[in-house]
Amino acid sequence: MNIRVENLNKNYKKKDSPDVKVLKNVNLEIISGQKIALTGPSGAGKSTLIHILGLMDRPTSGKVYIDDVDCFEGDDKYLCIMRKKNIGFVFQFHYLMPDFTVLENILLPVWGEKNIKFKQAQNILEKVGLLHWQDHFPNELSGGEQQRAALARALINNPQIIFADEPTGNLDRVTGCEIEKLLFESSSQTGSTLVLVTHNDDLASKTDKVIKMTDGKIV
Ligand SMILES: Nc1ncnc2c1ncn2[C@@H]1O[C@H](COP(=O)(O)OP(=O)(O)OP(=O)(O)O)[C@@H](O)[C@H]1O
Ligand SMILES: [Mg+2]
Repeated sequence: MNIRVENLNKNYKKKDSPDVKVLKNVNLEIISGQKIALTGPSGAGKSTLIHILGLMDRPTSGKVYIDDVDCFEGDDKYLCIMRKKNIGFVFQFHYLMPDFTVLENILLPVWGEKNIKFKQAQNILEKVGLLHWQDHFPNELSGGEQQRAALARALINNPQIIFADEPTGNLDRVTGCEIEKLLFESSSQTGSTLVLVTHNDDLASKTDKVIKMTDGKIV
């Protein structure tokens, strides 16, 4: 899926002080299937941007088109359906549910659907090397394994766009490389668009395009 961003602005209201302008007139275009690295110093607005592109937050002004559909014209229910159907998100911290097993966590995005995708979830778990942990709880897994489980959860719906916000920021180099490799492979296999926030230059150099942000702007 293509993503097109036009004149995107995001302000945060801060108590007793002027609004903080976090995104300043951002324009960009990502072509279907591209792998993009989003880089820039801390506080540049990277997470803010991909949360909006991932339809988890609304901009103050501006447009986000996904395959030419003006997403934020839709209500929250529409955004939720769009997200569920098309978008996989991997956070810096895994956000697995501690009281659910690994398999149940992977199935959470599709919970309540008629034919629960057990087999598909197990296939994905096998791909990320965690099938043997499927009935265990997240706190029984290492940091890298937890992040691999979070990656599996993001992939359960075969998303056409994968966003990953420093998915390896909390991992050692070797484990981080494994996760990045999995992300790359998954997006290549399915032809999905990948937008990855990373501080890893080595990784960024392997993507189709590097987008650099500073102070809320693309540079
Ligand atoms: N909910 C919020 N309310 C107020 N200000 C916020 C909020 N979320 C983010 N900000 C501010 O927006 C700016 C950009 O934050 P953001 O998290 O997008 O940066 P980042 O580029 O992802 O940084 P990092 O590399 O540290 O993750 C920061 O100055 C931050 O303080
Ligand atoms: Mg961030």
